[in-house]
Amino acid sequence: MANICVCARFRPAISKEDGEALCIARSDSRSFTLEDEKDEQHMFSFDKVFYEDSEQADVYEFLARPIVRDAVEAINGTIITYGQTGAGKTYTMEGANIMETDNHKKGLLPRVVDELFEAINSCGETAAYKINLSMVEIYMEKVRDLLDLSKDNIQIKEHKGHAIVLCGVTEILISNVEEALKFLSSGIANRAVGETQMNKASSRSHCIYILTVQKEMEKEKRVSTGKLVLVDLAGSEKAEKTGAEGRVLEEAKTINKSLSALGNVINALTSGKANHIPFRDSKLTRILQDALGGSSQTALLCCCSPGLCHFSESLSTLRFGARAKHIKASSRIGWKEEMHDKKQEILSENDVKLKVLDLRERILKKLREKLDAETVKLIGEEFVVDGLLCEEVDSSHEEGGILCHIKSETIASWKEATNKLVKTIAELGGENHMLKKVYELMKVEYEKMMHENERMKMEYEKMMHVTKRLQANLRKTDARYSVLVRGFWFLASTCIFLILAYWLSF
Ligand SMILES: Nc1ncnc2c1ncn2[C@@H]1O[C@H](COP(=O)(O)OP(=O)(O)O)[C@@H](O)[C@H]1O
Ligand SMILES: [Mg+2]
Repeated sequence: MANICVCARFRPAISKEDGEALCIARSDSRSFTLEDEKDEQHMFSFDKVFYEDSEQADVYEFLARPIVRDAVEAINGTIITYGQTGAGKTYTMEGANIMETDNHKKGLLPRVVDELFEAINSCGETAAYKINLSMVEIYMEKVRDLLDLSKDNIQIKEHKGHAIVLCGVTEILISNVEEALKFLSSGIANRAVGETQMNKASSRSHCIYILTVQKEMEKEKRVSTGKLVLVDLAGSEKAEKTGAEGRVLEEAKTINKSLSALGNVINALTSGKANHIPFRDSKLTRILQDALGGSSQTALLCCCSPGLCHFSESLSTLRFGARAKHIKASSRIGWKEEMHDKKQEILSENDVKLKVLDLRERILKKLREKLDAETVKLIGEEFVVDGLLCEEVDSSHEEGGILCHIKSETIASWKEATNKLVKTIAELGGENHMLKKVYELMKVEYEKMMHENERMKMEYEKMMHVTKRLQANLRKTDARYSVLVRGFWFLASTCIFLILAYWLSF
């Protein structure tokens, strides 16, 4: 069981906040300190922090891409944006607008759609895929279908296999990116929005986008389903801050009630004491039961405004995220066995074997993308030794064997472990790349120093040469000087002698 992925994002200051003091001090890509005007400091660490200069693509790559890739492999995933109104939840989720083509402004949702179609188009002809889109919002504690406004009170039911279903919700089969964006755009236009002091078009509801990826393997007569749920929550701020009154105040109260219910569920899940998790306390927690209750890969993005005036809302958003970090989640493959004409409750042994082989191939394929062939071979053998994977299907061996007992959860946990391994390899690859860069820099520096050394050596030799010449000149000058001194004394003594001789002659 892995913890859910929790990240924080600070949007850049918007024009009306120009010149305002900031409440955030960066530490590194995972930690920062939130400071109020009294310099009280609160340190936070998350899986990743996206600062004001982060790109939409960075958020997608880290937070959403792995979940989207897994949805194609029938592993359910949920991505939630949480935070105060105006903190950038909708911007992160949809982009500047859903039809945005500028890569800097394009949000998670259109990127998810791009990736889904890219992934299924690159899968070849081994499977047939279908992608369905549903969109609902929870407005005033009612679930409204955004793709068919006549369905304004959709009921939530728990399926036999504990899956949460929205009864009668519109599911639109989408066959390409353009079609998906067209329906998303019309659904978004149906959202309940209102103007508050915090945001011109503030979402007054929790918006939930559901993309269901159905994979049909004709040969094995099997259908698997991966559900991808993206949740753009309504603002988590206090009502007085939004200047809300009348109906807007009522909306704010309902929003806060459901967000409190979400907080209570998280507290219950993380306290380790509660034997009852209050999922039924609100529509939001009921719908998120799958995601929070441990059968989905979940990522939570805590959106914050960087300004000091939003300090207390940012603090409570980040505390919410820090608490959520302790939830354990385990992804589960959403296998829905359909023998086309005969539904089966339990997987047949043969299906399990095929699934294991399919998984083994997928794991090794993924590893082959990242590692050299020899290492992959070794890992494959290691898996076999550990009894994790069978080498080949041999029906004569299977009696009472491991294969019969392999459940989809086990397979999911292997997948999770492999993903982690691949992630670690990618991280190490990144580190390696960085070290290589440092090495290159040091090499250049070393070459520069060697060059400088050579130059100094030449300078030294030149100086030695000059010194030697000076010494020779000095010696010559010394010899001339002694000749001069001797000449002077000879002349002086001759003069004295002549003077004495002249004087004595008188
Ligand atoms: N990362 C960002 N870069 C640029 N502008 C942003 C960013 N995040 C939010 N904004 C802008 O801030 C404003 C509020 O964002 P929005 O996503 O609507 O907030 P929320 O959905 O949390 O209420 C919008 O005008 C949006 O364009
Ligand atoms: Mg919004």
